[in-house]
Amino acid sequence: MIPETTKLKVIKVPTFLEPHSLAIRIWHWTLVVFIFGAVTTVTLATFVFNTRQNVPLVQQQLQGKGLTVDAPTAQAVSHAFNDKVWLLHTWIGYGIAFLVLSRWLLEFFQPAPERLRKKMRLAAGFQPTTAEEVSERKHYLTIKWTYVVFYVLILVMAATGLVLAFENVAFFERIRRPVKSVHSFTQYLIYAFALLHIAGVVRADNLRYPGLVSRMIGGGTTRL
Ligand code: HEM
Ligand code: HEM
Repeated sequence: MIPETTKLKVIKVPTFLEPHSLAIRIWHWTLVVFIFGAVTTVTLATFVFNTRQNVPLVQQQLQGKGLTVDAPTAQAVSHAFNDKVWLLHTWIGYGIAFLVLSRWLLEFFQPAPERLRKKMRLAAGFQPTTAEEVSERKHYLTIKWTYVVFYVLILVMAATGLVLAFENVAFFERIRRPVKSVHSFTQYLIYAFALLHIAGVVRADNLRYPGLVSRMIGGGTTRL
């Protein structure tokens, strides 16, 4: 038994080469798949199943079968396909909303060293002794803060998406327009995060932190 007075509180240099629990790894890669799914549906609805652009195509195809239809009729057909893609987007969106909720739960039920809050608090409490440690600590905390910002953004995306999905609720119907604008705008911040994040981890893996990405796959075994 070490007497209380001689106990040393060892706070290690914050490093990205830390292990990741199985839960967070499954969560991370599932989220990646769902976000790519959501973006794919947005791309399909905007460029392939675009209601207005497909009106002449529907008219042309029916004309080939000897049937002439006016623009509003063709638009109804074109719109039905566009709707199907948005329905798929909504289902993927429910998945993302569930992942947002599960990330919040993980923060409470994971072992303490795996929690983002704990990691940030430890790094904030770390007293650097060299210039290199000062910069390492600052970089570590900046990156972890970008995750906090991302979690806020994805929460906004899920909350606004759910309002859009439940348009049959009278209040949601009334606020649909501004909510759609927020949902639509926030997508760009999510894209910006994803691009910078992917470029950042790939660069870091190749330069200062070899094995960073494989730790997000295999977990890594020792807390360095
Ligand atoms: C990163 C994730 C997401 C992206 C990039 C994204 C993107 C978009 C975009 C660009 C629109 C069209 C907005 C407009 O027309 O102005 C949209 C609509 C919509 N989104 Fe999302 N969204 C995401 C997540 C979600 C989530 C989590 C939900 C929750 C259920 C959701 C549900 C919806 C619904 C219901 C619509 C309306 C579809 C319609 O017009 O029928 N989205 N989304
Ligand atoms: C849609 C794309 C992506 C999103 C939204 C995303 C999101 C995130 C988030 C939120 C975290 C922090 C997890 C935590 O709470 O500790 C994280 C960590 C991480 N991600 Fe991604 N990710 C994406 C794609 C990728 C890809 C493609 C890779 C690999 C090439 C990757 C590699 C990593 C690594 C290595 C970490 C741990 C870095 C660290 O400890 O700071 N991510 N990601």
